[in-house]
Amino acid sequence: MKYDTRLCWLPFLGDTVKAGFTTCREMAEAELAIGLRNLGYEPPVCVLETPGEDEGYEIQETPGGLTIRGGTRGVLYGAYSLMMRLAAGQSPLTAWTAPCRSLRMLNHWDNMSGAVERGYAGRSLFFDNGKFAYDSRRLLRYGRILASVGINTVCINNVNVETPADQLITDELLPEVRKVADLLRPFGIRLLIAIDFALPMTCGLTTADPLDGSVRGWWEKQVARVYAAIPDLCGFLVKADSEFRPGPGLYCRNHAEGARPIARALAAFGGTLVWRCFVYNCQQDWRDRQTDRPKAAYETYAPLEGLFDENVILQVKYGPYDFQVREPISPLLYAMPATKKALEVQLTQEYTGHQIDLYYMLPQWQEILSDLKGAEPRYISAVSNLGNDANWTGHDLAQANLFAYGLFAWYAVVDTAAVTRWWIALTFGEDPRVEDVLLDMLLASRELYESYTAPLGLGWMVNPNGHYGPSPEGYEYSAWGTYLRADRQGIGVDRSPSGTGFVLQYPPDKAALYGDVKTCPEELILFFHRLSYTHTLPSGKTLAQHVYDTHFEGARRAEAMAERWNALEGRVPAEAFDNVRARFILQARNAREWRDVVNAYFYRYSGVADEKGRVLY
Ligand code: GCU
Repeated sequence: MKYDTRLCWLPFLGDTVKAGFTTCREMAEAELAIGLRNLGYEPPVCVLETPGEDEGYEIQETPGGLTIRGGTRGVLYGAYSLMMRLAAGQSPLTAWTAPCRSLRMLNHWDNMSGAVERGYAGRSLFFDNGKFAYDSRRLLRYGRILASVGINTVCINNVNVETPADQLITDELLPEVRKVADLLRPFGIRLLIAIDFALPMTCGLTTADPLDGSVRGWWEKQVARVYAAIPDLCGFLVKADSEFRPGPGLYCRNHAEGARPIARALAAFGGTLVWRCFVYNCQQDWRDRQTDRPKAAYETYAPLEGLFDENVILQVKYGPYDFQVREPISPLLYAMPATKKALEVQLTQEYTGHQIDLYYMLPQWQEILSDLKGAEPRYISAVSNLGNDANWTGHDLAQANLFAYGLFAWYAVVDTAAVTRWWIALTFGEDPRVEDVLLDMLLASRELYESYTAPLGLGWMVNPNGHYGPSPEGYEYSAWGTYLRADRQGIGVDRSPSGTGFVLQYPPDKAALYGDVKTCPEELILFFHRLSYTHTLPSGKTLAQHVYDTHFEGARRAEAMAERWNALEGRVPAEAFDNVRARFILQARNAREWRDVVNAYFYRYSGVADEKGRVLY
């Protein structure tokens, strides 16, 4: 079959989606009509809606054909699942499956200008030049891609709602939001809208104080207006008191108080308030050694257990910093058992190579979940990696992250290799050579990226602002609170009980594990401890030697990966081959640069020579 739509794992559906439907069932039947014909599958497939069910489905054999039985949205998920199984040569039959999490969210960081904050795949799919501007055929394909992996909630605008033009719930823009909601509804997708905490003031009130009666009334009126336009809206998403965004702190109110008037207004319509917890002091003085940024979210929220309304979900980034390559799990995720939480991950590769370097995230998510055993958040959210590039994600292979996210969000625990193989087969067909090579590359990509960038959980060695390329002290003397504290004696922040005490935010077993340099996992040792360059790591190497070796090895492996891809020429579509090849060449170059900059940094501070005698600057 011709791969004509720049991939995204559903080539058998072609590049057009039938429009004009209102229900998932209608969409399911239309999609099956296209897909089954293109897959050459002839037996009849019957779609039956199970009353009272929403998202679950099963696929059974019935005399002469197959039956998809499912809930309102389940029938569509079943239809895609059936076709995707057939397309990968698997049995289409599936026992009843229902998602582990009811909200499987995608957050776009798109501005009305059309720029995508931290976007590496072109411009916005929704906006341009201050207006809604989209190709509705493309948006239908977007709905299809998302629904095929069960993503059911999207926020199309940036959490940084900065300018008046970015406020989507105005009289002028709400009808446009409604059109997008209508377009995505038959895919089972509901919208969230990112709103600005201080919006009441943009709209003429003199305060946004959540305890002020006029503010409460104002939110009630706005929410009623929004739900009149979009009755099935999921709700609002808020970034408050975070990186210059206004919030309840302005009025000395806590976050539960801040969320309450908006949550109550939404509750009247069955709406949800997703409240982000990315709160820290971004105006720190680097000489201040008392404030430790990773402690901030827990300190802000943990005391508020039990105070948030039922329809509030706290959205927490997986690590206490900010989507670094390697961080421990945020202690806030273990805390507040009675409060609803969403785990936030980042598909867009802000700190992980800008969709130029390969970085496949499923192994990391599985790791997070197994660490959180017993405290798994009930909801999940991911920052989108999509843009208007022809291939949606810049790097063709970055599509695997969106695919894996959908399945991970649905099933919680998945077989990493099986999911990855499925994506490869759907995207590139069933060539065992291609499968072998890609499976290896994807599964090794995180460790590879980690090996030539910031070592041992240290993080933050990136160029400021852009967050691409090495700059070990790029954030060292800045206000963002992310310090490595390297000097002649050592590097890292002591977060043990005798240091900043950050480890004490964890449950006792984790606190003990991380807090003791002898038991702390090696890959996180510089996150939790300050060590000398000659400290012997569990691997038996000194810290300095470990850094040199991993960086030389990482750069070598990045080059080997580029070579390995070259051997697939002719086995994958030409455009995909070229897209990935060009990126692998850049990645190999990046890895050499990272190697030299990071090694030089450790060498200059430590004076420790490389025992293998390689060149250090
Ligand atoms: C990071 C990122 C910002 C983003 C922020 C957030 O700090 O660099 O661009 O706005 O995360 O998650 O809100």
